[in-house]
Amino acid sequence: MTSLNQIWGCEACGNIVTILHKGIDALVCCNQPMVLQKENTIDASHEKHIPIIEGNKVKIGSIEHPMEESHYIEWISATDGKITARVFLKPGQKPEAEFCFAPIAARCYCNLHGLWTSS
Ligand SMILES: [Fe+2]
Repeated sequence: MTSLNQIWGCEACGNIVTILHKGIDALVCCNQPMVLQKENTIDASHEKHIPIIEGNKVKIGSIEHPMEESHYIEWISATDGKITARVFLKPGQKPEAEFCFAPIAARCYCNLHGLWTSS
């Protein structure tokens, strides 16, 4: 079974999807199974990828993550347990986002190093 808010990716075309309603564990893209994106599992600097929650703001990394064309944080999502919101970022922007609520958990996605979570 899939679970709410899981992130799945296609290794062929790069599509990424979020589960909004759980179902059978058989996501397919490009005629092959999609892969569940596991948080904090890619061998990369944790200091540059772990989301840090400061009030209504989420910053990526105790050492600021690069925001270059070839390596950047694509999005930051946060939840307060009721609301879940996502901010999409572009190269050149700061790796941070401000929300209209106080997050209790946050995730981000690095184009090279995948999915990371605050908890
Ligand atoms: Fe990265």
